[in-house]
Amino acid sequence: TIKAVRGSFLDVTRTVEHPEEIESALRYIEDGLLLIRNGKVEWFGEWQAGKEKVPASVRVRDYRGKLVVPGFVDTHIHYPQSEMVGAYGEQLLEWLNKHTFPTERRYADLDYSREMSSFFLKQLLRNGTTTALVFGTVHPESVDALFEAASHINMRMIAGKVMMDRNAPDYLLDTPESSYQQSKQLIERWHKNGRLLYAITPRFAPTSTPEQLEVARRLREEYPDTWVHTHLCENVDEIAWVKALFPERDGYLDVYHHYGLTGRKSVFAHCVHLEEKEWDCLSHTHSSIAFCPTSNLYLGSGLFNLQKAWRKKVAVGIGTDIGAGTTFNMLQTLNEAYKVMQLQGCRLSAWEAFYLATLGGASSLGLDDCIGNFHPGKEADFVVLEPTATPLQQLRYDNSVSLIDKLFVLITLGDDRSIYRTYVDGRLVYERT
Ligand code: GUN
Ligand code: FE
Repeated sequence: TIKAVRGSFLDVTRTVEHPEEIESALRYIEDGLLLIRNGKVEWFGEWQAGKEKVPASVRVRDYRGKLVVPGFVDTHIHYPQSEMVGAYGEQLLEWLNKHTFPTERRYADLDYSREMSSFFLKQLLRNGTTTALVFGTVHPESVDALFEAASHINMRMIAGKVMMDRNAPDYLLDTPESSYQQSKQLIERWHKNGRLLYAITPRFAPTSTPEQLEVARRLREEYPDTWVHTHLCENVDEIAWVKALFPERDGYLDVYHHYGLTGRKSVFAHCVHLEEKEWDCLSHTHSSIAFCPTSNLYLGSGLFNLQKAWRKKVAVGIGTDIGAGTTFNMLQTLNEAYKVMQLQGCRLSAWEAFYLATLGGASSLGLDDCIGNFHPGKEADFVVLEPTATPLQQLRYDNSVSLIDKLFVLITLGDDRSIYRTYVDGRLVYERT
């Protein structure tokens, strides 16, 4: 089947190594055409140059006056924490014990997991997020439910069952053996099933024994094309705890590195308090970072050093980190990222923010060959933004305003009202009412 979309389009044409390069890689087409065949981009360019290619039988979706961009990529989010956003008053470790673990307990129930999976996917789509790297719970049912729901709309999603066999309530613990068997089964069932992909997901170093980390290594060796997804250097007390639990290792990241869990397609959430040797290790192993500004502010974890990540050539994506993060919305998350940079005396340009949320995020997940911009052959996941959804935005949006300023206002003032339509796999999956 063929679809045709007309409108103003913005994307980034290639991955970059410096934020200054992004501007030269941008592509803005004021009156453009996106032709989609079987869920993939067939042709993209100027409307005038492409309009003859639209078959007479195809109705053109006309989004002129809106801004069509690649679907947003959320590189770190916990779907089983959707119902606990806004838990009051603690930093990471107390927050986990008091709020997170009791909430995740409910996902032992497949029906509950199904209900929440459906809720979760709706929230992603109504916020323009078309790909996410997702934590489940320790229960394999939670991951079955999520993949099942994502498969119904053929979404590009990476997820995994949490591995955790110590330092949490009994009701949330697995064992090295059960985590191996359950992860393996889920990989066999879901990895590369349609657009779904699997991430080996040890929660974080404190909740895994060395035996379980050994199992994570074995899984990665047996399934080298899967992802690894975990947390790293989020909170000062957490880091001290890891050092006490693993005195034989040379710091927090060395725990993961020792068990073979660094490398391409390894994504480490937070990385707020990295030591120099840890930056170097992430860089040398081509591991990636998920920058989670709303979460890091909310839990008082600290300020992520994005400039240093560029300098060290470590790929970064943006994570909402629901439920320590406070929004599913990528625009609001970028707005907080801007402020995190301000507090460090740096600036996040609108181009850089846009890159991180689209192609840069895709690249940090190793998915830039299939999503992230409008190149022919890429999967047709995109969002139609309405830059003038509110009175305040209308005031700031007239023809004398440059594109970069318009984009910056969209990031600063935008939210779910800015998301006018969301498409996954070439199909309309969300319409704002
Ligand atoms: N570290 C270990 N588990 C978690 C979690 O669920 N959320 C956050 N933000 N950090 C973690
Ligand atoms: Fe997290």
